[in-house]
Amino acid sequence: MPLVTSKEMFKKAYEGGYAIGAFNVNNMEIIQGIIEAATETKSPVILQVSKGARNYANVTYLKKLVEAALIESDLPICLHLDHGDSFELCKQCIDDGFTSVMIDASSLPFEENIALSKKVADYAHEHGVVVEAELGTLAGVEEHVSNEFGSYTNPAQVEEFVNRTGVDSLAISIGTSHGAFKFKGEPQLRFDILEEVSKRLPGFPIVLHGASSVPQEFVEQINKYGGNMPGAKGVPEEMLREAAKRAVCKINIDSDIRLACTAEIRKYFTEHPEGFDPRNYLAPARKAIKEMVKRKIINVLGSNDKI
Ligand code: G3H
Ligand code: 13P
Ligand code: ZN
Repeated sequence: MPLVTSKEMFKKAYEGGYAIGAFNVNNMEIIQGIIEAATETKSPVILQVSKGARNYANVTYLKKLVEAALIESDLPICLHLDHGDSFELCKQCIDDGFTSVMIDASSLPFEENIALSKKVADYAHEHGVVVEAELGTLAGVEEHVSNEFGSYTNPAQVEEFVNRTGVDSLAISIGTSHGAFKFKGEPQLRFDILEEVSKRLPGFPIVLHGASSVPQEFVEQINKYGGNMPGAKGVPEEMLREAAKRAVCKINIDSDIRLACTAEIRKYFTEHPEGFDPRNYLAPARKAIKEMVKRKIINVLGSNDKI
């Protein structure tokens, strides 16, 4: 099956009360782990590539690995640019065959965010590609902007933003934050903002970034085997599941995959100090990634058995 856009995925997810997982990919093992998990759970999936991933892996390699996933599986797969920070980068990905791009102009003033998001949406739509934009800023470190506290999305702005830009989905800020070093204290999701946004945009797909929950058992495993990570919690999985039952159709997860992978590699080297064959630690890391993605599909997204 060729790559698909997220249009149909989101329509079904909205109607079915679940969300599609958007998992960040940087190398072969991550792609394989995600695809194996999605295949076993019969779940549609979004593979997303950040600017950092493009720089790390070279986008040609990533595209060829995604092509291999299309050959090896029967899954609906959408290939998405995560946090595109310029028209040029979004255009490059559209020209490269991505089926979805995010333009993240959320750090710009409202009018500039609209102008840039519209410019990307116009170009993308001419090429059959869908666009995600963002309104409000998340706490934590985004790729191009560091917000210590972030700012919640203002529901009064969403209709105008979507109408004037023509974007296909909207990332909003309701309490999630990027990275594995989340806020101290009890994380909360502002369901009141989500409700207000979805009332103003009926049927419109909403996106949550920063949706890793940082399960403490993985932080503990990393620290048990020589790591030194602080244990800051993310938004609990059950809370994200509630959001997925509502208007949230896409949930972004990266850090929890990194945690699963690193926990396994640290364990391997502690138990096998003589080890040096990368296959011996990358194979268990890939399996841990697969188990993490299955956990998210079943506990958070509810996208299992949807193909
Ligand atoms: O939200 C950002 C993603 O986790 C991508 O992170 O820029 O390190 O690839 P990255
Ligand atoms: P996490 O860092 O919480 O996994 O968020 C990932 C993300 O939002 C990618 O865009
Ligand atoms: Zn993000």
